[in-house]
Amino acid sequence: MSDDIYREIILDHYRNPRNKGKLENADVTVHDSNPLCGDEIDIHLKVDEGVIRDVKFEGKGCAISQASASMLTELVMGKDLDVVKDLKKEDILENIGLTNLGPARIKCALLSLKVLKVGMVKYYSENDPKSAEQIKNESSLY
Ligand code: FES
Repeated sequence: MSDDIYREIILDHYRNPRNKGKLENADVTVHDSNPLCGDEIDIHLKVDEGVIRDVKFEGKGCAISQASASMLTELVMGKDLDVVKDLKKEDILENIGLTNLGPARIKCALLSLKVLKVGMVKYYSENDPKSAEQIKNESSLY
């Protein structure tokens, strides 16, 4: 796909975000922001038997950070935590279709993954401390 098509997809997610809002009775809720610009993301997860049964996000900020969060919720909805915990920044950049971003924009694109990983560490800390440590050790997002 051309960059123009990816730009259209990003704008569509920015204007019509998927899975945006609060999640009642979430098992995990995590908030983080990009300290450089102040953009914010909250991610709410409902987890059952190791599977993400529901995910929603709230946030404000640039088109890339918010569209990336919207796309991330679609990517992980219904997925096994074991699969999600292995997501790498390259997977996210590929998912949003922009692999040639500069360093500042990469932080925009990865903010939601960082929040999701923090959420997973929080979840695993209570249920599977070994996996929590693994995410912390392997994630370059910390
Ligand atoms: Fe703040 Fe994009 S400008 S995350």
